[in-house]
Amino acid sequence: MEIGYTVEQLRAAATDAIRAPSLHNVQPWRFRLRDGGIEVLVDSGRRLPATDPSGWGARIAAGAALFNLRLALTVAGTPATVRLRPYPAEPDVVARLLPDVPRRPTPAEQSLYAAIPRRFSNRAPFWPDPVPADARWRLGEAARTEHCWLELLIGVSAVNAFAEIAHGAHRVLERDPAYRTERESWVRREHALDGVPAAAGGPRGEPQDLLPARGFGGQHRSPGRDFEPEPLVAVLGSAGNTAVDQVVAGQALQRVLLTATDSGLSVSMLSQPIEVPSAREQLRVSLGRFGAPQMVMRIGYGQPGWPTPRRHVDEVLDLPVHQA
Ligand SMILES: Cc1cc2nc3c(=O)[nH]c(=O)nc-3n(C[C@H](O)[C@H](O)[C@H](O)COP(=O)(O)O)c2cc1C
Repeated sequence: MEIGYTVEQLRAAATDAIRAPSLHNVQPWRFRLRDGGIEVLVDSGRRLPATDPSGWGARIAAGAALFNLRLALTVAGTPATVRLRPYPAEPDVVARLLPDVPRRPTPAEQSLYAAIPRRFSNRAPFWPDPVPADARWRLGEAARTEHCWLELLIGVSAVNAFAEIAHGAHRVLERDPAYRTERESWVRREHALDGVPAAAGGPRGEPQDLLPARGFGGQHRSPGRDFEPEPLVAVLGSAGNTAVDQVVAGQALQRVLLTATDSGLSVSMLSQPIEVPSAREQLRVSLGRFGAPQMVMRIGYGQPGWPTPRRHVDEVLDLPVHQA
């Protein structure tokens, strides 16, 4: 049994962790080794004050990175036991991982791990083909395995009711100039290692669109290239809405996203109705759920695309000077 993780194990696992999604691709995470444990931190220097004043989005992203980290360590044969928010006096430390009993990864863990570099947000219209029942079941099971729930909106009226809530939230956010300026400042029209590349930002929103697009500087669509008329919309939620619940939800989000990728599905996220408290409550009530909605996803069969850039792993590691 190992005493602790090594710098090499940290660097290898963090290389996978940073493939996680984050609001505007800000990549708000750091990783360090302390007393043999790997710690995942929210990077307080990469907050989005106008878009994410509470830090919800940063904790979801850090949770998603934590899931990749866990998976990478497991597939390397060195799984971890995880404590969330281990130090009350250091709220930026979202998790501490210590080596558990070494074991071989299962085939399911290996498949999910293989999905990490293939996953990306696909904001383009999907094919109209429905998502089959067994894939839907796998997605729900992925959320449940990580102690969260996943509600799939069934039927036109449920999706229309959701769309109304989402457009309302989108309008509230768009009225805030600081929010618009912040979003625009993270759109990248030239190659960059963070932010949303305009080419990946999806097409420009049109009046006929059922769901509101966040608007990352995309082009107008050519005629006939509308979004799928009956999208599969899924709402991920957690038991509560504490900081720990949000880290738990981030892990569940990533398990759902990797499960979708592994099933040949594409996903885009839309979180405007999570970011506006009254819309979030409306959404929760409309689902008849306890707890807190934490993310909304559009899921379907998409055109091929490509992963977005990340900063180099060494930029997010805090290593003792002699080990850097
Ligand atoms: C908490 C959170 C909220 C997000 N909200 C949205 C959103 O409202 N609209 C959107 O298009 N993408 C959203 N995303 C996706 C990110 O923009 C995306 O993960 C990031 O740009 C990196 O790209 P990738 O997912 O292709 O790796 C969100 C991601 C996270 C983690």
